[in-house]
Amino acid sequence: MFLNHGSFGACPRPVFETYQRWQLELERQPVAFLGRDLSERMRQPRIALSAFLGTGPDNIVGLVNATEGLNIVAQSLDLQPGDEILTTDHEYSALEKTWAYVARRTGAKIVTVKVPLPLVSEAEFTATLLAGMTERTKVLFLSHITSPTALVFPIEPAIAEARKRGIWSVIDGAHTPGHIPLDFDAMGVDFYSGNCHKWLMTPKGSAFLFVRPELQGMINPLVISHGWTADSKQPGAKGAFGNSPFIDELEMQGTRDPAAWLTVPAALDFRRDHGWDGVAADCRALAQETAARLRALTGLSALSSPEFCAPQMVAMPVPHIEDPVDFQKRLNERYGIEIPVFNWQDHSIVRVSVQGYNSKPQMDLLIEALTDMLALGQQPAKARQHG
Ligand SMILES: Cc1ncc(COP(=O)(O)O)c(C=O)c1O
Repeated sequence: MFLNHGSFGACPRPVFETYQRWQLELERQPVAFLGRDLSERMRQPRIALSAFLGTGPDNIVGLVNATEGLNIVAQSLDLQPGDEILTTDHEYSALEKTWAYVARRTGAKIVTVKVPLPLVSEAEFTATLLAGMTERTKVLFLSHITSPTALVFPIEPAIAEARKRGIWSVIDGAHTPGHIPLDFDAMGVDFYSGNCHKWLMTPKGSAFLFVRPELQGMINPLVISHGWTADSKQPGAKGAFGNSPFIDELEMQGTRDPAAWLTVPAALDFRRDHGWDGVAADCRALAQETAARLRALTGLSALSSPEFCAPQMVAMPVPHIEDPVDFQKRLNERYGIEIPVFNWQDHSIVRVSVQGYNSKPQMDLLIEALTDMLALGQQPAKARQHG
């Protein structure tokens, strides 16, 4: 059974069929598809998705994944030696590497603040970040939903404060589209990249980058291709396909398969047609109930109060696991359970994702498996408690 939608989730059949139709059309008529029609086709998902994200269609571009979107931003920012990139100790490893690469190339410095756990207060979270801001801070980089800890960071006040101080906010929203409501214009964020291939349930290889209109001129593509024009940085310049340079330079890059991006409208229709807000509410209830059962089982406290827990993804501390890779493999072999198990800081963590295809009996089996494999039935819970 599959309890790891957070890493790579399933795509609903009608959305996947739409994906395959796009791919068939591309292979049947590649010249028309990639040569004549692509720019217009890329626009339709932008129109549908931007409305869902609370912004205009000219403020997002379709990409392959959030790592790409965040790399575009990180490598576009004009950073100087000594500039500071403020971030937290909950960030995703690939993006930690991105910023380390940027810091090495520019001489900027990464300042990592430790977010106090359990996360129970927006004010405390914001104060922790503000305490890390200095005259040299140029970038605030935060996950909106964190990967190792599955927390929803209350990012809005820190973004507002960053804006006041002239600090660029760069948000990693890999887990947010289709998982929590988003309204970029209200949020006032500068740069935000998110995946459609997680909780919006498109096929893999579908993501977007949002950039506030005033900052789009700062963005440079990682790959120079057909969309680029020599005068793209001139005021009022158009891109090679008649959109803004931001859109044309990022979307029109060499020969590639855009089918996953083109399924975004179908994924949004699927949510609407199946009352997905209701499905998600049921998933959230099941996730919270499972978390409570795991807490009762292990005697270990949660990493946050419920309001900061990702609705459909819960990272639960469990008693220390020496070899989490082996533990995860054995859970799969013995019980057929696919779930992430890892050590993060001084916690061993099991991260449970709950999507529309998961069920209460699956959670029962998870509890049974963990009870067995962590030998939790055998000693009183109190003896295992910590902080
Ligand atoms: C917080 C976070 N950021 C970024 C990513 C990277 O996503 P992708 O591989 O789709 O770029 C992930 C992947 O799980 C993630 O959890």
